[in-house]
Amino acid sequence: MSQTKENKIKGIVLAGGSGSRLYPITKVYSKQLTLIYDKPLIYYPLSILMLGGIKDILIISDENTIPLYQKLFDDGSQIGISIDYAVQEAPNGIAEAFIIGEEFIGGNSVSLILGDNIFYGDLNFFYRALKRNGGATIFGYKVNDPERYGIVEFDAEDKVISIEEKPAKPKSQYAVPGLYVYDNRVVDISKSLTPSARGELEISDVNSYYLKKGDLHAEKISRGVAWLDTGTPEALLQASNFFGVIEERQGLKVACIEEIALYKEFINKDEFEQIIKKMPKSLYREYLYKLLVELNQQSIGTFS
Ligand code: G1P
Repeated sequence: MSQTKENKIKGIVLAGGSGSRLYPITKVYSKQLTLIYDKPLIYYPLSILMLGGIKDILIISDENTIPLYQKLFDDGSQIGISIDYAVQEAPNGIAEAFIIGEEFIGGNSVSLILGDNIFYGDLNFFYRALKRNGGATIFGYKVNDPERYGIVEFDAEDKVISIEEKPAKPKSQYAVPGLYVYDNRVVDISKSLTPSARGELEISDVNSYYLKKGDLHAEKISRGVAWLDTGTPEALLQASNFFGVIEERQGLKVACIEEIALYKEFINKDEFEQIIKKMPKSLYREYLYKLLVELNQQSIGTFS
């Protein structure tokens, strides 16, 4: 699935769901726009796709929230990417994103990330998946509360034995995070699904289909990577504290989409400077300005 002309990898951020567990925050406000330390939650998953080199991105959300995302990101061109928007009428499940996004995906492969999933650390597990040619790739992350997630069971050789959505008695502690990479078959597979007992087109059913065909790859994410939950007020506070500590300590921002655009060469230094000029005075602007000054002092930027 290299990014050739014939088969690019498109990206989808699914920022749907009712967010009912965060009521009343989510009564008027989308969960993915809530604050994680110094930026909206959706910056974190968006930045993962960008770090993977994905430049064509579809944001799917409900019709009330799409205008807010448009205000936030416009068409993405200012950061050198292309962002399309599409409406999910009701929380009908993750797999519906591939049906809504059929035209956007075209004949390409696609990586989907949930708008409330945060990853921090070495992303090589994701970069490897993007390079794989065909099939589906999911990940396994060891958690304390497996019954809350899609669960992947591995054999002794780390081959997948089963996939189950929120089982009462989980067969393993490996949760499947909301980050997936699929070949183009995912569109037709999603169309063939029937809704589950909770009335959703389940992503676990898509993954089970690939498993049956022998085309499901699953990789364990190492313990050094943080996959953070954002489902409850407590989890939001913990995530904010986590990134507050990291950013303060290093003086580096996590999920700073303008910095990533520059680092990935989606934009050049002049375009970066233009972005800064248009920003209101803020700590965020100061951070980007400092990067620019540092870059101007060195002939080659060092972002590693
Ligand atoms: C969804 C998926 C589940 C996955 C989880 C990751 O759960 O159905 O398989 O493990 O996202 O965040 P939901 O958000 O619907 O509870």
